[in-house]
Amino acid sequence: MLFSVEPKATIRDLYDREIELNELRNSVLRGDRLIAVYGIRRIGKTSLVRAFLSDLSQPYVLIDVRQIYFVEGNVNVSSLVRHVLDGFRKFMRKGERLWEGFKDALRGISWVRVSAGGVEIKLSRKSRANLIELLNAVDEWCGRNSTRFILVFDEAQYMRFSNIRYDGVLAWAYDNLSNVTFIVTGSEVGVLRNFLRIDDPKAPLYGRHVREIYVDRFSRETSINFLRRGFTELGIEVNDGELNEVYEKLDGIVGWLTLYGYLRGIEKLSHREALDKVFNDGVKLVLSELDAVIKPSRARYLAILNAVARGLNTWSEIRRYVEVRTGEISDTVFNKLIRNLVRYGYLSKVNNTYAIPDPVVAKAVTEVHIG
Ligand SMILES: Nc1ncnc2c1ncn2[C@@H]1O[C@H](COP(=O)(O)OP(=O)(O)OP(=O)(O)O)[C@@H](O)[C@H]1O
Ligand SMILES: [Mg+2]
Repeated sequence: MLFSVEPKATIRDLYDREIELNELRNSVLRGDRLIAVYGIRRIGKTSLVRAFLSDLSQPYVLIDVRQIYFVEGNVNVSSLVRHVLDGFRKFMRKGERLWEGFKDALRGISWVRVSAGGVEIKLSRKSRANLIELLNAVDEWCGRNSTRFILVFDEAQYMRFSNIRYDGVLAWAYDNLSNVTFIVTGSEVGVLRNFLRIDDPKAPLYGRHVREIYVDRFSRETSINFLRRGFTELGIEVNDGELNEVYEKLDGIVGWLTLYGYLRGIEKLSHREALDKVFNDGVKLVLSELDAVIKPSRARYLAILNAVARGLNTWSEIRRYVEVRTGEISDTVFNKLIRNLVRYGYLSKVNNTYAIPDPVVAKAVTEVHIG
């Protein structure tokens, strides 16, 4: 169903995204080793990648790194390895012959126990070695079976909260594993790029070829067709004026469009109620997500966002507004704060003009008390 609110998991449920799917397919076919999928929150990164995987003939594992971080408070290597093994286990349950051989490959690793039921970790020795050893076994097994392994780290920027440096591990894998493709996604685009240190000449991944795919908002036409198709699926008639208003208010962000469709189509709210509820619930959601990012300097961050939401969009206009609201601020501090908001995706910067890329975020920051 088009309006189900979980990330989509099949091509059938995924609306559009043909270009991005083809880029992913070609990239894997070519044997690219590292693919980065970027896009603001709720733009459909997870859905795109999951749908892509569901159609793949090669083996894969998807790790929800944000989830691990929020459940465990960090993304230590032992838990990451455990999640990768969990992913294998799921595949093995399918009982394909291919996987029988894979069990044998894992038997070679001293800290993995392989039984009829599946695989488990016996003990964790030196953590860094664990992941590399595991990836090596996977790579060799793929080589023997003429296949590629696709390992996805969804919201990979959370990997920075770990006991080891994964950028080094990824760079090592990039150099040494010819049969593994890594896909990393990130809604905090600048944070992910920083974490991978793609642009840092001294960093291990610098100069390596990273295929970068940007997931963008739907155009007006695509948004309206998406909504129309979702309502048709549910046998509900809607008028074009309403759909146009939804597009104008929610600006082609598929996550919000889906929520609107769900509220109207499944929960049977009216057009107006559904649209209001997207904003009301969305504002709460956005503020809880934003909280973690702005905590160190809450009032100033909020003042910056508030300025932009009010239409002030140049560096000096925003800076003046922030000083009026929260007192004197040095250029250095102001630059750091505004840069962070861009890195986290709460602001976009085009031609030295700042904007808030999500209308629900814009509403949220005008409603909250800066104080
Ligand atoms: N192409 C699509 N067709 C239909 N529904 C979609 C599509 N892309 C995303 N959705 C819906 O939009 C919502 C957000 O999608 P998803 O979770 O994949 O986005 P995301 O970019 O991974 O978000 P986040 O940044 O929160 O992880 C979900 O309800 C999902 O079902
Ligand atoms: Mg996601």
